[in-house]
Amino acid sequence: MFVVTEARTLAPDIRLIRVGAPRIARRRQAGQFVIVRVDAEFGERIPLTIADSDEDDGTITLIVQGVGKTTKLLNMLQPGETIADVVGPLGQPSDIRNFGTVVVVGGGVGTAIAYPTAVALKRAGNHVIGIVGARTKDILILEQEMGATTDELYFMTDDGSYGERGFVTQKLQSLLEEGRNIDHVLAIGPIPMMQAIADVTRPRDISTIVSLNPIMVDGTGMCGGCRVLVGGQSKFACVDGPEFDAHDVDFTILAQRNTMYRRHERGALEQLELTSEHCCQLRLQHPDVGPDVQAP
Ligand SMILES: Cc1cc2nc3c(=O)[nH]c(=O)nc-3n(C[C@H](O)[C@H](O)[C@H](O)COP(=O)(O)OP(=O)(O)OC[C@H]3O[C@@H](n4cnc5c(N)ncnc54)[C@H](O)[C@@H]3O)c2cc1C
Ligand code: FES
Repeated sequence: MFVVTEARTLAPDIRLIRVGAPRIARRRQAGQFVIVRVDAEFGERIPLTIADSDEDDGTITLIVQGVGKTTKLLNMLQPGETIADVVGPLGQPSDIRNFGTVVVVGGGVGTAIAYPTAVALKRAGNHVIGIVGARTKDILILEQEMGATTDELYFMTDDGSYGERGFVTQKLQSLLEEGRNIDHVLAIGPIPMMQAIADVTRPRDISTIVSLNPIMVDGTGMCGGCRVLVGGQSKFACVDGPEFDAHDVDFTILAQRNTMYRRHERGALEQLELTSEHCCQLRLQHPDVGPDVQAP
């Protein structure tokens, strides 16, 4: 069992969860992830990037966006509660070297996935430009942390409520049109965003890395669930990635594969919502009923 030592909300539906996992905290490198199972008996396994770690207190930090059943369950955890399994560190570490000027693009919760690599790129001596995007100001995350690790930081919101109005791709395009010399780009976020960034950098031949988010199950290359097509070859994102050359990724296949289980995922979420609603109603009717009330 892995004990939650801190849990707090960063933005609506996005929580920071610190978990005791000393062995992982000692070994993890930027770009790696863990596979988490909230409940040992019925829980599904989901991959989450290690956003940060502290070797001294033996904790790792996860930043979780509640999009479905398991992420919403994780986001209900409070300090002192436990997670059944945390397996890792998994995946290949990010390629960290002194490229020169690097742009780190984070879209939505992708900012949390990009953050540890931005820190490592800065430590390697790069001039780091951050471009952080979100639909609206309220859901922007890690503003302070990204501010502390970048030399320049730009915010883009779809509705113009913070920074500039528009997409992260527009900011990257305008930096390039201003004649800025950019040696390397790391882009992490929704699939269409990563694809659009690849389209901006491809004609200029700027090396560009994306972190892929296919459905993962075991995280060890055994189940084949996370197969992606890169440069015409099948790769397993969990062991060969999750970071790949953006110009070689087949984003269409990735998007198609990620929708394969949509009906099942919607069903699981509806069941969780029903259960939570039932618990709340019971607690309103019987205030002495504790959180371990039986699900219907
Ligand atoms: C390497 C990697 C690192 C990730 N890091 C983070 C992170 O740091 N923070 C974060 O909030 N999210 C991260 N994700 C995405 C996260 O794993 C999914 O949001 C989560 O699995 C959704 O599960 P669910 O049951 O809550 O939602 P569901 O309703 O089951 O699914 C919602 C969507 O999440 C995706 N998904 C579902 N199951 C899986 C699975 N087993 N593996 C991968 N994707 C799945 C699918 O696209 C699906 O449509 C990462 C994904 C990968 C592959
Ligand atoms: S998650 Fe099973 S092969 Fe990658």
